[in-house]
Amino acid sequence: MSSDKDAMRNILIVALSVCFVCSVVVSGAAVSLKPERLANKELDRNKNILIAAGLFEKGVTNDSQVDNLFKSFEVRVVDLQTHQILTLDEIKQTNIDFSRYDQRKAAKDRSMSVALSTTEDIASISTRANYSIIYLLKRDGELQRVVLPVHGYGLWSTLYGFISVQADGNTVSGITFYEHQETAGLGGEVDNPRWKGLWPGKKIYDEKGNVALEVIKGSVVSGSSKEKYQVDGLSGATLTSRGVSNLVEYWLGDQAFGPVLKKLGGKT
Ligand SMILES: Cc1cc2nc3c(=O)[nH]c(=O)nc-3n(C[C@H](O)[C@H](O)[C@H](O)COP(=O)(O)O)c2cc1C
Repeated sequence: MSSDKDAMRNILIVALSVCFVCSVVVSGAAVSLKPERLANKELDRNKNILIAAGLFEKGVTNDSQVDNLFKSFEVRVVDLQTHQILTLDEIKQTNIDFSRYDQRKAAKDRSMSVALSTTEDIASISTRANYSIIYLLKRDGELQRVVLPVHGYGLWSTLYGFISVQADGNTVSGITFYEHQETAGLGGEVDNPRWKGLWPGKKIYDEKGNVALEVIKGSVVSGSSKEKYQVDGLSGATLTSRGVSNLVEYWLGDQAFGPVLKKLGGKT
């Protein structure tokens, strides 16, 4: 004869109590750790901006060094429809709190983004936020670098990263991806420092002002007329390489940051 302890009702009560206690603990932890999680996310973003700008490797070991280095950046807002860097007054007129602005969320919000047509959507992102945050690195008031957020589809996932451009608006100083789900050892080689090291010094625009910078299949031919615009493809990962090429073309092109870079470089 089974005891009361084994009754189905008791088993259910115990199971549900355990579930309830666990869910309270998990949600309590999620809520109480939210500020820390957001701070870590911000720190990671800042670290990646420093990596793209080529400032991270130089002996940076702890979080306060990241924070200190990041203070050298001027954080600005670009209106991607007018391709202008906004003044403080213009920022106020948008009624958006840019200290809490999340470009990825904004891109999914119809009131804060535009849908791209098939011909416009080179980077396969479907929609694009109306505003983007960019980072200007200045020394003694002189512009040194512009760090731009970029994203686009590879083979399995959207790659999110930053590209850094010198003050001439035409020379790459670095690239980094902080989020993607490409295959480790194939498309995941976008994280390989050796491959990222191929980018600094590459030129973005040809004489006509079109984006000529591209990731090619195979290796760049040394001494060729296109060498300055080309980066070696990732071997066995042509589709991720093409995705990177496409996102570079889109974000540095006329639809996105192209006019901003050309203005900074004195070309308009
Ligand atoms: C399990 C698996 C994972 C793969 N992951 C990637 C990837 O992350 N990026 C990519 O471009 N190709 C990846 N590929 C290869 C693509 O399917 C495709 O064959 C490749 O992009 C062609 O590049 P290739 O012309 O350089 O060989 C993967 C293939 C397999 C079987």
